Amino acid sequence: MRIKDFKLEEYFAKHEFNVKYTLCSSDCESFSVDELLTLEKDSLEDLKGVWLGYTESLGSPILREEISKLYENIHQEEVLVFSGAEEAIFVFMNVFLSKGDHIIVQYPAYQSLYEIANAIGCKVTKWLMDDENNWELDLDFLEANVNQSTKCIVLNFPNNPTGYLPSKEKYNRIVNLAKKNDVYLLSDEVYKFLEYSIAERLPSACDLYNKGISIGVMSKSFGLAGLRIGWIATKDKALYKAIASFKNYTTICNSALSEFFAIMALRNKSVILKRNLGIISDNLNLLDNFFYKYKDLFKWIKPKAGSIAFPRLLVEDSVEDFCLGLLKEKNVLLMPSTNYNYGDRYFRIGFGRKNMPEALKKLEEYIKEKYEALI
Ligand SMILES: Cc1ncc(COP(=O)(O)O)c(C=O)c1O
Repeated sequence: MRIKDFKLEEYFAKHEFNVKYTLCSSDCESFSVDELLTLEKDSLEDLKGVWLGYTESLGSPILREEISKLYENIHQEEVLVFSGAEEAIFVFMNVFLSKGDHIIVQYPAYQSLYEIANAIGCKVTKWLMDDENNWELDLDFLEANVNQSTKCIVLNFPNNPTGYLPSKEKYNRIVNLAKKNDVYLLSDEVYKFLEYSIAERLPSACDLYNKGISIGVMSKSFGLAGLRIGWIATKDKALYKAIASFKNYTTICNSALSEFFAIMALRNKSVILKRNLGIISDNLNLLDNFFYKYKDLFKWIKPKAGSIAFPRLLVEDSVEDFCLGLLKEKNVLLMPSTNYNYGDRYFRIGFGRKNMPEALKKLEEYIKEKYEALI
């Protein structure tokens, strides 16, 4: 397979570990092993007993049981564990799609959600979101573009990078449209549980539709990206079997230590999510004030969920130059929209980390120096 470079991941690989402040990370603040071990009594002894042989290729049954509790109506045999959501997406796309298939992908999007399909030779229709319309998705577009060769609609709610979350009513209409046209739904739900109002949390696609495939991960809402534990949940048994079989050519099975920590984190999910939502809420208040103060420089659409947003730079400068200047002058990393193949006017900002207030101060210094005449 020939596939284009993953722009966003290349950018992180180049800068993330050399920069002082990463102000565009999408994952929540992580934990040390020590912090995780304090969540449960006797956990250090349990850790010492972890057996470091091969693990079950579908994922540990205990872990799959814990993951299944994140859903309404999913059993552990409907959960398949991967090395991150990235492997889950890669394997799903390879098993499910063939050259010439048509898919519709909500856009802007995390690159693997459309690039793997491009590399396979699929026809990819981008279902565009626009900040002029508060990032709202246009259902008429979807209806007009689903056709006989459409195999799949790819969704990502809460959305990376916009923080968009549709209403439950709109989401149900999308699911019903997929059902009516017998089209699969690949639902990337890696930011689920980071809704600012629980009432707005959407049901998972795998719970609503037997052709719904939900993808989850420990990296984002739970802040445990270093575990590299993600999963697929689906009621489609044939697809599940084919995906499990393909995994024998990628990672075969998961890291035993990562499974151990993922089980512990999921057993204590309410503590972890409360902590992460607390960080997000404090940081979002700061961002609201910041963007209000500098409303002549940025267009800010407050996200509805998640740990990232996608403001627009209103001044004429290229956003790439803006981000590069910030990196050079203040040691702060933002993600320009060029890495999403979405023009040169937006940037991704992340607010799941504890040091966001410090990084924001640096950004403020930068814009005060750079746009002194405008503010
Ligand atoms: C929407 C989305 N899906 C999948 C992934 C991949 O997650 P992971 O790196 O944990 O495999 C990411 C990571 O940024 C993401 O934002």
